[in-house]
Amino acid sequence: MTRNEQPIAVARVAAGTEEDEPNPYLMGVFEAVQDELTLDDLEVIGEIPADLNGVFLRNGPNRRFPAEGRYHMFDGDGMIHAMHFENGKARYRNRYVRTAAFHEESKAGKALWTGVMENPANNPFGNTHGLGIKDSANTDVLFHRGKVLATWYLCGSPYAIDPLSLETLGAENFLGTLDGDMMAHNKVDEETGELLWFDYGPDGPPYMRYGVVGPEGTVTHVTGVDIPGPRLPHDMAITPNYSILMDLPLIQDQEARAAGKYRIFFERSLPARFGVIPRHGNGDAIRWFTADPCYIYHVVNSWEEGEEIVLDVCRVKNPQHQATYTSKLAQMLAYLRLNAHIYRYRFNLRTGQTTEGPLDDDNIEFPSVDSRVMGRPHRYSYDMHLATEQTLLFDGLVRFDSQTGQKQEHFFGPGRYGSESPFAARDGSTGETDGYLVSFINDERENRAECAIFDAADVSAGPVGRVLLPRRVPPGFHATWVRADQLREGGSL
Ligand SMILES: [Fe+2]
Repeated sequence: MTRNEQPIAVARVAAGTEEDEPNPYLMGVFEAVQDELTLDDLEVIGEIPADLNGVFLRNGPNRRFPAEGRYHMFDGDGMIHAMHFENGKARYRNRYVRTAAFHEESKAGKALWTGVMENPANNPFGNTHGLGIKDSANTDVLFHRGKVLATWYLCGSPYAIDPLSLETLGAENFLGTLDGDMMAHNKVDEETGELLWFDYGPDGPPYMRYGVVGPEGTVTHVTGVDIPGPRLPHDMAITPNYSILMDLPLIQDQEARAAGKYRIFFERSLPARFGVIPRHGNGDAIRWFTADPCYIYHVVNSWEEGEEIVLDVCRVKNPQHQATYTSKLAQMLAYLRLNAHIYRYRFNLRTGQTTEGPLDDDNIEFPSVDSRVMGRPHRYSYDMHLATEQTLLFDGLVRFDSQTGQKQEHFFGPGRYGSESPFAARDGSTGETDGYLVSFINDERENRAECAIFDAADVSAGPVGRVLLPRRVPPGFHATWVRADQLREGGSL
């Protein structure tokens, strides 16, 4: 029995809050799964394509111990669910990310941290920004130099994980060269082997740092990026020569923070600003482009086109709802409901002008593109359609053609909700649709999940294969696909 296969103490999650309102993020499909499994010989409906070789990984919250106060989806302990495909066979594995906080709570046998919605003043430790918030590494997952990195949206330590065993290898400090934290949504340029990242926090100017991990695995460049105050940037974009950082008018209220309260507000009088910085440039070389106020969680892709930078995103026009809430819980739930549309910016490097506008009006988010075209022009994105439920759930998969605006759609059916669905290039793949999409789909009525495989050339046809799992994979955040050739290069095979 390996360390990761030992039983771990997991308390029953209480489905309640300080106000005794049932919290939907602790119930139903969202209820945490309690153990760590390795499963072979799973039932398959349809077939697993023999040319689908690699591993699909998805990160997300999975709370171990009930904590005081309100539970937010961002609070749960990071857990990776993975499906390894090899020669027409599939193996499922799930493991917690063994963060420093995970180990502390294991020793204590109980929750030591409050959630992000509560006063962190008495929490034992947090990230290096002095926020006593538990770094749960539950948000994003990416592959770089043979390792998977699990990251945390409020910035923390990236945790290195073996892509096949899912063993946590430890906090990744890049051979001792990372000073500080990293956000979720780092970007990997597969052509150069570089990893681009930023870090942000309320400590004071410059409020944001931008950096590069070189192909040798050390931080080779870090620079401060001046923004006017603490913001909540979520994602970034890259092109071969530039990185694009965001200063969006969603602001954490510092007076409330000083009083131990968490409050964010959307400042409609401020523009959205996009900073275009040379990949290896210093903060004073950044050029800011202004645009209509909005919030953006996720970037679709970005590239250079003549004298312009093109940036496609899922844009949230109105991140702060105007409704009157019956409770703090209702307010929190309203924030987690996304209403986003694919939208394109063009930043003209010669004139400094921004042009912007929607590409589509469907409510879609959690976009993916073929990782081989990251930072270069793409045609297709693979996106999740947002359900109209109270919680953050995806009821369909959409292939969006950014050249024609045409869509191929597949809806999962009543009570069935998918995960972010990365593009998985088939062996010998020659293009953006020459491969598959993989998604963990929960079936609410059957109280179990499956991993569905779609042909990226014909998404509307529905899955070509469904690997049935005996239990749920609670909905989470981000996913990635690691090709077999990347695993071989990284020494995992
Ligand atoms: Fe995200």
